[in-house]
Amino acid sequence: MKIAMIGTGYVGLVTGACLAEFGHQVTCMDKSEEKIEFLQAGGIPIYEPGLAQLVGKNIGEGRLSFQTDMRQAVQGAQAVFIAVGTPSSRRGDGYADLTYIYAAVRELAHCISDYVVVVDKSTVPVGTARQVARIIREENPVADFDVVSNPEFLREGAAINDFMRPDRVVIGTESEKALAVMKEVYDPLYLISTPIVATNPATAELIKYSANAFLAVKISFINEIAGICEAVGADVVDLAKAVGLDGRIGSKFLHPGPGYGGSCFPKDTLALLRIAQENGVAARLVEAGVEVNSAQKARMVKKIIDAMGGSVAGKTIAALGLTFKPETDDLRESPALTILPPLVERGGIVKAHDPKGMDEAAKILPNLHYMNSAYEACKEADAVVLLTEWNQYRALDLARIKAGMKTPVFIDLRNVYDPTRMREAGFAYTGVGR
Ligand code: UDX
Repeated sequence: MKIAMIGTGYVGLVTGACLAEFGHQVTCMDKSEEKIEFLQAGGIPIYEPGLAQLVGKNIGEGRLSFQTDMRQAVQGAQAVFIAVGTPSSRRGDGYADLTYIYAAVRELAHCISDYVVVVDKSTVPVGTARQVARIIREENPVADFDVVSNPEFLREGAAINDFMRPDRVVIGTESEKALAVMKEVYDPLYLISTPIVATNPATAELIKYSANAFLAVKISFINEIAGICEAVGADVVDLAKAVGLDGRIGSKFLHPGPGYGGSCFPKDTLALLRIAQENGVAARLVEAGVEVNSAQKARMVKKIIDAMGGSVAGKTIAALGLTFKPETDDLRESPALTILPPLVERGGIVKAHDPKGMDEAAKILPNLHYMNSAYEACKEADAVVLLTEWNQYRALDLARIKAGMKTPVFIDLRNVYDPTRMREAGFAYTGVGR
């Protein structure tokens, strides 16, 4: 099948490459000439494990190409995916900014000749599929099309696997004809018995927000319990293991930490709150989840200061990990962005290291010192703060770290290390909730 992908950001690029791998003929289109030239030359603008190989392979086999011209990209396509960005609006009021989607759709409307399925892949508020259809009809009254909502559930760092082996595929449409096209798009997934949930567009749109809000609330729940554990001397890691073994609860997303970040949970929870508010419905659990997450980040600042004897002024802090999670170069809403600046404001000297995020971090946090390795960052430090659980921080040479430090204070915001063993190794160790 011939497919066009509008937008070559994270979602567009991963989806385009994976659909090409399914055997479809995919043209990815982006307004940015610079980006398209970079992609055509074999460059990958984001770090996502396996993506460069997948893109290269499918370009090589002639199934994936890049284009700045909408008309050419869409020509002959049976499905056009909209995967442009939907950032939180600049007003900071929780609204998703749909400017890019609507602009893309306006242009697309004039390129439609034969029947086409327009697929909303970006995470969009309930009712967007209807708006998209209205805009296309307005711009091109004779266009033959259907709009489908087909939300993505891709985790950064594991996006290709999430696309190739999804828990489910959600297809929101009122049209049987569009449903048939979408089933053909995802045909390879039938072979591995992937559940397909076919529903109406509004439900599909809300499924995405609900799934992300649930996971965000689940993280906030365990972070709140971690605080209680600290107060009563319980161990949240053992607790989460036991609680998670209840099949109704499940062990995933029960890891306490410095709070969730990334491009989805913070944005999608706020957007869901906005949707509820606009419709006069309460969403108190999600609201609390968001508040707990902000409080968790603030609580980490206090935890660090307390572990360092009540003041960080003039002291050196080694910060390991800046991205919002491992295996990505993404810093959006990363806990590091809210936890580290207050330490600098209080006179702390932060020596930071991250395997993939330092270039971006240097732009946002110019007051940190960026080091070439974790060991360099820890040299002469008064404390180490582990913020992101990159694999290379999971098996640090602790004796080497300790030998180089001024004082062996280790603050492990991801509970990577065992408290008893760390104390035996001579560290003043602080975890989260244990
Ligand atoms: C998420 C969803 O998982 C994905 O399905 C959706 O479509 C996009 O948003 P992503 O943001 O890439 O994916 O990362 P995810 O692995 O879900 O982690 C999000 C944040 O939660 C990270 O900051 C992570 O560190 C944090 N987290 C996750 C925890 O603090 N504890 C956990 O137990 C799990």
